Amino acid sequence: MDRATELSLLNEVLDLLGRKTFFLDDCQTTNAVANYCSAERFAQETAGIFRALPLMVAHVSELTGDNAFLRRDIAGLPMLVTHDGAGAYRAFINVCRHRGTRLVDAESGCARRFTCPYHAWTWNNRGELIGIPHEREGFPEADRESLGLKPLACVERHGWIWVAPDDATMGELDGFLAGIGDDLDWIGSRDLHVVAETTAVHDVNWKILIEGGLESYHFKVAHKATIGPYFNDNLSTYQAFGSHLRSVLPRVSVKELATQPEADWQLRQHANLVYTVFPLSQLLVQQDHLIWVCMDPVSETRTRINLKTMVPEGAQPIEYWQRNHEITCTTLAEDFVIGESIQSGLASGANDHLTFGRFEGALHMFNDAVERMLGGCDTA
Ligand code: FES
Ligand SMILES: [Fe+2]
Repeated sequence: MDRATELSLLNEVLDLLGRKTFFLDDCQTTNAVANYCSAERFAQETAGIFRALPLMVAHVSELTGDNAFLRRDIAGLPMLVTHDGAGAYRAFINVCRHRGTRLVDAESGCARRFTCPYHAWTWNNRGELIGIPHEREGFPEADRESLGLKPLACVERHGWIWVAPDDATMGELDGFLAGIGDDLDWIGSRDLHVVAETTAVHDVNWKILIEGGLESYHFKVAHKATIGPYFNDNLSTYQAFGSHLRSVLPRVSVKELATQPEADWQLRQHANLVYTVFPLSQLLVQQDHLIWVCMDPVSETRTRINLKTMVPEGAQPIEYWQRNHEITCTTLAEDFVIGESIQSGLASGANDHLTFGRFEGALHMFNDAVERMLGGCDTA
């Protein structure tokens, strides 16, 4: 983000505050309830979105050390990501090529080779098959070359590791990240590391969870006992970069800027930012750290959510960040409870559509991006 953009985002919210109004779209919109609870729709999203786009699956700091690896399961795709001694990142489907056992059970570690826990076929961290016990007798026709681990495309960009189904899709990554990639640099992505992590499964569609991070209309109500008092009522702005979104959520302190010279204004000092990195990640950027919220859609009604608190080196003692992480989890739990409440009533027949107000336009933009990927029509 350049300085002019930073100032214009602050001036925009100060203008809205001064006029006692909100960031408004032209009209309210709707989204069909079936989009959140249909198994057929979820299958379309899996094929047309989760398996069709580059996904933000890890941060570079999670793959440090010689021959580091980690595994990730996202939307039913088990992935093994490796970083070899020469510095190359690779990703594979984490499934044995013999009879399909999960190859690697450990969440992360360092290893040059991976041995299947069933019959000990072994691959190196470049995905090459290097060992088949009793190969000569049992597998005289085995062609080791064609029995490498199934590759996925994998690159590092802006401090994050991206995995895509194939090289052609990955070739579009820079275009896919146009506009938001600069901001990933601006927030200091490369200098971060994970200090605390929480994973939980909730009975809610993945899109309802993303939507909870796209408006501040609920802050003074659902978060009245936690973060509500720190934010201006229903004041937030957003901008779309392709399918991605940047939301600006000014804190009450933003009013102080009216008496300070523009040269001193700092966006992160007076506003939280939420980057929705389409489709499954949200970065909740605060003054001195961020929370990476990564969705793993399990079914149309269930999502595994991974929360990571990510911080720059040495700024505060670890206990400070752990306490911070607990506060974040407490606040986000309020959103997850509401999300499960929404999901539990979807099939009741009360609503055919959910309604997005003019200041909930980011929800409309997000669902439009989903529709575009599925080749459907507008959600309005
Ligand atoms: S299933 Fe993996 S070695 Fe047999
Ligand atoms: Fe919330």
